[in-house]
Amino acid sequence: MIILGYESSCDETGVALVCTERGVLSHALHTQAAMHEAYGGVVPELASRDHIRRVIPLTRQALSQAGLELSAVDMLAYTAGPGLAGALLVGAGSAQAIAWSLGKPAIGIHHLEGHLLSPRLADPKPDFPFVALLVSGGHTQLMRVDGVGEYELLGETLDDAAGEAFDKTAKLLGLGYPGGPALAALAEQGNERRFDLPRPLLNRAGFDFSFSGLKTAVLQQVQRAGGLEQLDEQARADLAASTQAAIIDVLVAKSLATLKDTGLKRLVVAGGVGANQRLRGRLKRQAASLGATVFFPPVALCTDNGAMIAYAAAERINAGLEVVGDKRHQFVIRPRWPLAEIGTAVLEDHDQ
Ligand code: KG4
Ligand code: ZN
Repeated sequence: MIILGYESSCDETGVALVCTERGVLSHALHTQAAMHEAYGGVVPELASRDHIRRVIPLTRQALSQAGLELSAVDMLAYTAGPGLAGALLVGAGSAQAIAWSLGKPAIGIHHLEGHLLSPRLADPKPDFPFVALLVSGGHTQLMRVDGVGEYELLGETLDDAAGEAFDKTAKLLGLGYPGGPALAALAEQGNERRFDLPRPLLNRAGFDFSFSGLKTAVLQQVQRAGGLEQLDEQARADLAASTQAAIIDVLVAKSLATLKDTGLKRLVVAGGVGANQRLRGRLKRQAASLGATVFFPPVALCTDNGAMIAYAAAERINAGLEVVGDKRHQFVIRPRWPLAEIGTAVLEDHDQ
């Protein structure tokens, strides 16, 4: 079965073709990061308008890369939530319109389920059960995953997400948006021991995170130096390295604690922050000391993309999961969709 998938929940337009037997056939992506950079963050209205401009050219690109005609598509999938309502509507509307024109079903996918399952696109592929560390711009969660659709929340952030901590501190250091990759690159030149930054909840029982205090601590360091202009290149790099180390220390410690607590031997890392090479290295080394293996999605599929959405639909189909049917091609989106309610994915099949 060939699935055409759409991701448009935030500032990436992703379109991909995935085969339930053969995996990813093609994926096309446009990131709006440069457009939002001037504003220091995503402007929802601009995001929606840009998704509309990109969605059809990207669909053509994905089809031509896979050497397929639209008529080869058996099913459509799109991110139904969580995300920006206007942005989600573009993917939902496109997928539903194409589904209607082809006489095929369309299924709404939870964005985080896409991230959670994306490490199974890598070789080797993690078997269930595993612990998943989901670290994106909007989410920081540790989950126990026993199978497709079987997700148990173990811990999550009480305030800012890990990606947000990267982005906000990067902004304080005068780096562009999104700040994660820029901060990580600058950190490579720095000394992570130069600035003493807090590791919130590190030694506290439980698997929750808190990152909002970190941004305040970085701001205080900048103010102590007399403002950003007073920090030379080396001091900025040292502050970037110290910030990255503080975030990674907490992510690694809590991930290891969940492995110990659950007794599971597989850790899967997903979401944009999972592209961070330092985080990858530390997790691999420290999990190995517990006899556990760490799995990552291919780097290109760590941040938002259409392949993870089409793939999550393929996993649901391969697992024989029941999906809720609807004969009307409504643009069903859920901007605030708790992962706990994932069983209520929406399938629309007007042939029923
Ligand atoms: O999963 P994602 O593409 O979008 C959301 O659903 O949020 O994640 C984006 C987040 C941003 O906060 C970005 O700064 C962060 O992932 N990020 C990184 C790196 N690459 C992306 N953070 C740290 N190091 C990186 N290399
Ligand atoms: Zn995401």
